[in-house]
Amino acid sequence: MIEGLKYKNIFLVGFMGAGKTTVGRVLANKIGYSCVDPDQVLEENAGTSISAIFSEFGEDYFRDLESRTLESISAGERQVIATGGGVVIKDRNWDIMKKSGLTVYLKAPVEVLYERIKDSTNRPLLEVENPLERARELLDSREHLYQKADLIIDSEKLSVREVADELIRILNY
Ligand code: S3P
Repeated sequence: MIEGLKYKNIFLVGFMGAGKTTVGRVLANKIGYSCVDPDQVLEENAGTSISAIFSEFGEDYFRDLESRTLESISAGERQVIATGGGVVIKDRNWDIMKKSGLTVYLKAPVEVLYERIKDSTNRPLLEVENPLERARELLDSREHLYQKADLIIDSEKLSVREVADELIRILNY
């Protein structure tokens, strides 16, 4: 907490399909924060899509841009920041997030997540032969990282609005 404000920023973390952006919009609207999607900012700055960045320059290059974008956004305040699903893999990103706000993990089972993202075309990590299997492996390898968040919300059975309301209740906004 910082003086005069509640949390400077609220970072939503979680796997692809966790609802970070949709929950972020509703939550931000309810508490008078702005909602920022770092992936969208990154794409605007780069002038191209995440998929194109992955295929032209590779994942490491994307991860570097992702950290820089997160860092510059984190300098602002009163923002709900809907991070990309892989933000949790770098210690540097945790340092940035923990320094500038509260982290919230939106948790759901892989089957639910997959159902929400299976038709999307801008998720290069899942452009493989068996995307459900890939999603399961990725989530398994990241679960312990998502658990580093300050708060964990089990979003499986909740609507977007219910998740936002639950957060407002817990955080006392
Ligand atoms: C990624 C998640 C994506 C995007 C990129 C990599 C990941 O964001 O940052 O495709 O590593 O899980 P969303 O979680 O918003 O889909």
